[in-house]
Amino acid sequence: VHDAIDRDLVLDNKKLNDVMVKFEREIKKGLSKAHHDESEVKCFVTYVQNLPMGTEKGKFLALDLGGTNFRVLLIILKGEEDYEFKSKIFAIPQSLMVGSGRDLFDHIAQCLAEFIKDMNIQNEILPLGFTFSFPCQQKGLTTGTLIKWTKGFNCSDVVEKNVVELLEEAIQRRNDIKILICAILNDTTGTLMSCAWKYQDCKIGVIIGTGSNACYVEKVRYAEWFDKPGKFDDESVIINTEFGAFGDKGSLDDIRTCFDIEVDKNSINPSNQLFEKMISGMYMGELVRLVIVKLASKGLIFNGKISKKFMQRETFFTKYISEIEHEENNVFHATKEILYELDIENPTEEDCRIVRYCCELISKRAAQLVSSGLAVLMLRIGDPKITIGVDGSVYRFHPRFHDLMTETIKQLIPSNYEFKLVLSEDGSGRGAALVAAVASKDLQ
Ligand code: BG6
Ligand code: GLC
Repeated sequence: VHDAIDRDLVLDNKKLNDVMVKFEREIKKGLSKAHHDESEVKCFVTYVQNLPMGTEKGKFLALDLGGTNFRVLLIILKGEEDYEFKSKIFAIPQSLMVGSGRDLFDHIAQCLAEFIKDMNIQNEILPLGFTFSFPCQQKGLTTGTLIKWTKGFNCSDVVEKNVVELLEEAIQRRNDIKILICAILNDTTGTLMSCAWKYQDCKIGVIIGTGSNACYVEKVRYAEWFDKPGKFDDESVIINTEFGAFGDKGSLDDIRTCFDIEVDKNSINPSNQLFEKMISGMYMGELVRLVIVKLASKGLIFNGKISKKFMQRETFFTKYISEIEHEENNVFHATKEILYELDIENPTEEDCRIVRYCCELISKRAAQLVSSGLAVLMLRIGDPKITIGVDGSVYRFHPRFHDLMTETIKQLIPSNYEFKLVLSEDGSGRGAALVAAVASKDLQ
C-alpha cells in the first residue's frame, strides 16, 4: 500500500517550502499591475479597510451564496459585542446552479422577498450585505464583477457583469420589496470581519469548505489595484487572494498526482482552481475514492474486488472522511457502515485500516497545503502575534484538521511567531452586517 500511493501523496517540509516560495511569488504578481495577467493568485482588493470595533449597531439583511447552503439573514448588531440574528436556508436546485444567470438572480430575489415578508419587515428599507463567494473584481464596496464561476456553479451571462446590478435588477423586476445593497463581499472577508469583532489581532480569514480561499490585511502601498482618491500608503485594506486558483498556470505541477489530474478532468471547470481541488470539501472525497480504486486495481484492498457503486464518480462523500477519522483506532463501525453503503460486502479489519489510511493521507495533505499558503500570508503581515479566523465544513467537522494545520504552520514559520486558529462564528451573517454597517455609515 505504501509503495503504491505514499510517494505521491506524502508531502515533506522541503516540498511545502517549495510551495511557499511559489505561492509568495504568485501573491506578489497578483498585487502588482505589471504582472497581474500572468498571476495565478489574483489578490482582489475588497475595499474593506476598517476592522470592526465591536461597538457597531443597527439592523441589517444579508445574503450568503456560494457555500453548502444559500441563506438569507436578518442581523441586529447591538454594540458591546452583542448581536442577534434570524436566518433561513433556501434550496438552490442543481438546475439553477448551471442555468441562466437571470433565473438564478430571480430565485435569490424571490427568497429574499419571502424572508422579508416572513419577518414582517416590508416597511423598512434595510441595508444589505451580499456575501457572494466567487472571484470578483471590485471597484468599490458595491460593485463586484464576476471573473469566473467556481465550485459547482456555472450560470450563463454573469461572468464579467456586476453582480450587485444583477441582483438589483431582479429585485426591481419583482417590484415588491425595497432594500439598499451596501456591500458585496467574499465569505473569507466575512469570516475575517466576524473574527476581528472579537479578536483585535485577527488579520486573516480562511474558508476550508466546499471551496477554499483566504483573505488578509495588506498595506495599501502594496495593493496596486486599490483605486481610491486620497488614499494613504500606510492604511490597510483587505485582499481576497482567491488562492484556490494557485497552480492554474503550472506552479503545482511537481506535486499534483494522477488522482488530482483525474478529479480536475471530470470537474465542470477543468484546468481551473487546481489548489482548491487538492484541498476542499467538494473534491476530497472523490480523491479518496480514486486512491482506493487504484489500490483495488492492484489487488491491495477488498481482495481486488470493487463494487459498481464504488466505481461511480462522487459516491464517496467528503463527510465520510470526517466520520471515518473520527473513530477510535481499531474501531471500525462507521467505516464498515460507509463501505456497506457503497456495496462493499464483508470488508476485513485490514481493508478498513487501509480506507482510514487513505482518508488520513488526503486530509493531511489538504491541511498541509492550506497551511503553507497561510504561513506565507503570516510572514507577509509580519505581526509576531496573530489570530486567524476559519470557517467551512471541512475545518468544522474534520476531527484533526485544526491540529494538523497548527502543527504544520508551526513547522513553517519562525518560532517567535505566535498564532491562533479560531472558528469564526457566522462570518456571512455577522461579517456581512459589519461590512454593511461600515459602508452604510459612509453612505449617510
Ligand atoms: C458558512 C458561511 O458558515 O461557511 C458561508 O456562512 C461560507 O459564507 C461557508 O461560504 C463555507 O463552508 P461550506 O462548507 O458551507 O462551503
Ligand atoms: C471558491 C471561491 C472563493 C470562495 C471559496 C470558499 O474558491 O472562488 O471566492 O471564497 O470558494 O467558499
